[in-house]
Amino acid sequence: MKISRLSVSLVLVGFVSAGFMLHASAAEPPRAKGSQASKARPAEPKATSGLPTPDYIPEAARPLLRKKMERHGQDARDLMFGVTLLQYDIARAAAQRIAAEPRLVRPIVGGEDDLNALLPERFFVLQDESRLRAQALAAAAEKRDDKALGESYGRLMETCVGCHSAYLNRQ
Ligand code: HEC
Repeated sequence: MKISRLSVSLVLVGFVSAGFMLHASAAEPPRAKGSQASKARPAEPKATSGLPTPDYIPEAARPLLRKKMERHGQDARDLMFGVTLLQYDIARAAAQRIAAEPRLVRPIVGGEDDLNALLPERFFVLQDESRLRAQALAAAAEKRDDKALGESYGRLMETCVGCHSAYLNRQ
């Protein structure tokens, strides 16, 4: 008799704690549920899906910009791993590719309908700055100056983010 009462209360304890755990996991933020949560939500945007095209860019101009920018993805990866893992040659080569990229020229008189005329002035400013900062990064990698490498990476990234922001917000 004593034994069976003991087992009943153990079962009850089991139920109570299972209920508590269920409750606890329901209250947890979704990311804490582990890898299953990300599998269940395939629609979550990935960093690789690129920048959206803002409304002011006409459909016809998109392939041109896309073509110019598609290398950014690979360069960005090489740059990040090259710098953070101190793989100087990889960092230098990626920075040099960025610095050597053909640039969009500022709008010219009579070219008011060109894509270039639609882009904000800051786009061109940051384009020039990005080039200079990529050159500084390449030089730091060449010298194997780790401190300068980290700093120049941060400064280059500012121009990447700045230009994407200028492009998306047209300002
Ligand atoms: C002068 C402006 C400018 C600068 C500077 C710039 N970007 Fe971009 N980037 C763009 C634009 C515009 C697009 C969108 C092109 C499009 O329509 O796909 C883009 C797209 C991208 C994409 C998405 C490419 C794809 O495949 O869709 C990546 C990644 C990227 N940039 C990384 C970088 C990195 C890293 C830097 C700095 C080293 C950088 N960008 C500097 C203008 C710039």
